[in-house]
Amino acid sequence: MRQEELTALLQDMSLEEKVGQMVQLMAGFFQEDASGVLTGPGASLGILEKDVWLTGSILGTYGARELKELQKKYMERHPHHIPLLFMMDVIHGMKTIFPIPLGLGCTFEPELARRCASAAAKEAAVTGLHVTFSPMADLVRDARWGRVMESTGEDPWLNGLFAGAQVEGFQGKDPGKPDKIASCIKHFAAYGAAEAGRDYNSAELCEHTLREFYLPAYRAGIDAGAALVMTSFNTVDGIPATINTKLMRKILREEMEFDGVLISDFSAILETVAHGCSRGERDAAGKAVRAGVDIDMMTSVYSRNLAELARSGELDESLIDECVMRILELKNKLGLFENPYKDADEEREKTVLLCEEHRNLAREAAVKSMVLLKNDGILPVNRNQKIAFVGPYTDSRQIKSSWSFTGDEKDCVTIREAAMEALDPRLTVYACGCPIISGETCLKGFTEELSQEPSGRELELMREEALRAAREADVVIMPLGEHYLQTGEAASRAFLEIPQVQMELFREVCRVNPNVVTVLFNGRPLDLREISGKSRAVLEAWRPGTEGGHAVLDLLLGRENPSGKLSMSMPYCVGQTPVYYNHTSTGRPYAAGIQDRFRSRYLDIPNEPLYPFGYGLSYTTFEISPVELSGDRMRLGETLTARVRVKNTGSRPGCVTVQMYLQDVTASVARPVRELKGFVKAELEPEEEKTVEFSIEEPMLRFWRADGSFASEEGDFRVFVGEDSAAEKEAGFTLLP
Ligand code: BGC
Repeated sequence: MRQEELTALLQDMSLEEKVGQMVQLMAGFFQEDASGVLTGPGASLGILEKDVWLTGSILGTYGARELKELQKKYMERHPHHIPLLFMMDVIHGMKTIFPIPLGLGCTFEPELARRCASAAAKEAAVTGLHVTFSPMADLVRDARWGRVMESTGEDPWLNGLFAGAQVEGFQGKDPGKPDKIASCIKHFAAYGAAEAGRDYNSAELCEHTLREFYLPAYRAGIDAGAALVMTSFNTVDGIPATINTKLMRKILREEMEFDGVLISDFSAILETVAHGCSRGERDAAGKAVRAGVDIDMMTSVYSRNLAELARSGELDESLIDECVMRILELKNKLGLFENPYKDADEEREKTVLLCEEHRNLAREAAVKSMVLLKNDGILPVNRNQKIAFVGPYTDSRQIKSSWSFTGDEKDCVTIREAAMEALDPRLTVYACGCPIISGETCLKGFTEELSQEPSGRELELMREEALRAAREADVVIMPLGEHYLQTGEAASRAFLEIPQVQMELFREVCRVNPNVVTVLFNGRPLDLREISGKSRAVLEAWRPGTEGGHAVLDLLLGRENPSGKLSMSMPYCVGQTPVYYNHTSTGRPYAAGIQDRFRSRYLDIPNEPLYPFGYGLSYTTFEISPVELSGDRMRLGETLTARVRVKNTGSRPGCVTVQMYLQDVTASVARPVRELKGFVKAELEPEEEKTVEFSIEEPMLRFWRADGSFASEEGDFRVFVGEDSAAEKEAGFTLLP
């Protein structure tokens, strides 16, 4: 449709129709007989049947046939036959599930994330979806927060690269094109700063922290063209983000120039009442529209109040028109006025979903996302010895995440299946040893049936079988980890451990066989002191998705060489969280060996995490030369080059991620001790040597200043280059005025 036609359409719509566009409901409301929803659980929402058929978008359902039927039925009833938008959380894959975003972050390969998002978009589009609520660009620093799995980690710049790449993957150049869907950046803003890692908690952060560390990744997603943005549940500057006019009107719309659709998070407008910032629904509705929130997700706050607010003159109807126009424009951008079914196609579903190309991509991504944390030489595993796989993830298909509900567990390749394809059955045994979780871990309120716990006797037998297998083996591979419901939304944890039932098994196995290799399935950094201390090797597999089993075996057997690098620090213990490499310099820095008591440190643990950001081993070794800088001074507009030689000093081909960090030594605000500003992934054959170069330009040195400008300041800078954020090789330069 041309813009004039959209304007004419808007002018012709009744106020109720307009408000309808601003409401999003779940598909249950549109069933043939929706009376169950309207009078049952949904009744508390106060949605009336007449409102249902004016609703502008639906969340949480997919399937080409179903969505086409729904679209047809809906459009026939709608006064202006305006098509619905179908939205869904396609977070790390649709049917082919890729590694969780935290794992994707460990690939240090945004282009790979772009390819995964593009494959996910193709699968989503063919099932009839138009919009995904992804990527989550929230900066994460606190491993207690269950949603760290949905972020690409603790580095604002790296997150921005991934957010941009994912938006491009989902949308391409135009989300209206075949196999593309619109992408929604979330959760604006600072949802990742939930205090003490407790989900939905307030976020306490100053404007400097917000602008310097939290906003850049959202901005990168918006600059990449994200069609939507979602509000966050938390407060920003004391005001719930969803009704925070400064945040939404000034920062998002004016400064970031976002002109797409702003959608609330699930019932977030209504929740401003519980925040104590709206006097009731009516007040909340008015405030959210004034802040520019176009769509109310899953409440009746807009549908019950907006028309009345406009008629009474309390709310300017032109504000409603603005919101509706943005929604109509999105529908138009997706081509829905011409083809309301877009790519929905039951026949193509059969060839696109889980196709070989996507499975291969999932395997590549899983391999690259896994991080080898420890290896004393036991890996890669020698296949001519007796191998026992012992642990509950040996046979488990629960290797996706709680944010991949469109995928099916049955399609996941387990460790055992992958091992059986590759290993001599006469030399290999498998034993689960214990369940993933037992009664001691509270997962109240989750739909998962956790009460089918094995009896005491069954547990004993499992344990005995596992110990027998471990005793007789030359090497024991232990696939252990969190339950998949222990991370994701509403899954904050105060203890960063894998369930005790597994730790007990681990300890007993270590007692009977010292040759333990642990493979971890988890969605957040954990306290790995004991596991790392007792295992001869530790492979962090995250939640790897559909091809997880194959990817683990590729790495354990050395068919692939590990290259993943931590996108979030592994804390020493929970008391250290939040721990992140790019923290601000303090006035009393501590370094090992300093005797002075009055330093910023703990009495009982080190300041450093167990494994730092950027860390990850390979089966080969690399040597990096001292850093050479092309000059020791830089003026505005000039470029300096930091150069190192990197050599593969081991006996296998491998990939090294050379990382460059900068430190602004003196500035008008305290600056981070270092910040990632460049990285290069280089493939090297044994003995091969390459030159790796990084450009340093003035815009990289800018930061948020007290006067509200984003600028660099003259002075000294340090440059660190190495294989992780603890890199020690350094050089320096001065930025001249
Ligand atoms: C989550 C969002 C998600 C939405 C819709 C909310 O609870 O916070 O991230 O997109 O639900 O499923």
